[in-house]
Amino acid sequence: MLRVGVVGCGRIGLRHARGYQSHPDARLACVCDVVKERADQRAAELGVRAYYSVNEMLESEPLDAVGVITADGLHFEPTMQALSAGKHVLVEKPLALDLEQARQMVRKADEQGVSLAIDFNRRFAEGYRWAKTWQDEGRLGRLAYVNLRLAQRGPYTSSTLKPYHLLYDLHVHMFDLLRHFAGDVAALTAEMFDPRVTGYHTSVATSLKFASDAVGTLLVSWDSSYKHELEYLELCGDLARVEVHNVTEQAVLLPHESDVRWVRKAGAFQAEAIVFDNTFARRVHAFVTDLVAGRPPSPLGIDGLRSQELIETAIRSFEEGRRQALGGPCQ
Ligand SMILES: NC(=O)c1ccc[n+]([C@@H]2O[C@H](COP(=O)([O-])OP(=O)(O)OC[C@H]3O[C@@H](n4cnc5c(N)ncnc54)[C@H](O)[C@@H]3O)[C@@H](O)[C@H]2O)c1
Repeated sequence: MLRVGVVGCGRIGLRHARGYQSHPDARLACVCDVVKERADQRAAELGVRAYYSVNEMLESEPLDAVGVITADGLHFEPTMQALSAGKHVLVEKPLALDLEQARQMVRKADEQGVSLAIDFNRRFAEGYRWAKTWQDEGRLGRLAYVNLRLAQRGPYTSSTLKPYHLLYDLHVHMFDLLRHFAGDVAALTAEMFDPRVTGYHTSVATSLKFASDAVGTLLVSWDSSYKHELEYLELCGDLARVEVHNVTEQAVLLPHESDVRWVRKAGAFQAEAIVFDNTFARRVHAFVTDLVAGRPPSPLGIDGLRSQELIETAIRSFEEGRRQALGGPCQ
């Protein structure tokens, strides 16, 4: 039985906490928030203990693992505290807003001999799982290109956003998905749209070359809306093409030499499979199952670091106005 504490009692913290409570091999022992009323309310709702300081929680509770679900830019401190105390950690994305902090987090987990895992929950979404299964079965053949788009509305009301916040908010997921399906990136070029009223870039187009020689395009935007299809992935190999619509809704396999297409989508009694919110519990479940089985809980902090390295490279490409090759390993 894995004993877990969840740090951060916001909207997403609740989804993680419920994920632990619904896994047969995990026990949610406590929640923690620096805002006392939030911690108290969440603890009462879930029937667990409340803490208002991560160190106090770590000293008082015999935990095996900690979930860090604080806001972007506030993951570093609680993660380092938990890792230093010898706990496994599942942290929300992005690891940090600073590459050096992200590196320190990965290094600390290695030094302590514990696992740092990241919530790249899209990998656990039904549409992407179906596509990955077809790819792993060899149905696509050798990958030639990948085409990925995520276009939604932006959080325009925040005044604290940096000019490149879109990349830390959304690209962090998208770069991970590209690595998941196409492997390491060898080079990229990024162009950015700035509507000049918000002070930050709201649409980014990136072209990529992978180490495998495949090519990719990535379009990520805050200039669209939530009312229509947000996300679309297309993979093309020498045997077939795969399309994934809206993360969870539908995956289609289109073999080049056949006019029959294979469609996978949730049946009438599997509605939970297309609810995006359920990807949090699925990811938490995999974290618990991997740890209990003694496996590294993939995707790991190093995957978060790789994704962040790609963000920094895209920013550099835009600022310098040229293609950037990725160096060797980023540690
Ligand atoms: N994976 C996804 O698909 C996905 C989707 C949405 C949000 N997120 C991520 O989830 C994270 C949390 O988002 P949210 O909307 O729940 O944030 P939030 O700001 O609503 O909640 C975070 C909570 O953490 C608390 N907190 C901050 N520092 C703390 C500390 N040191 N110790 C204890 N408590 C602390 C805050 O008081 C707050 O209550 C963000 O990083 C966000 O990017 C991920």
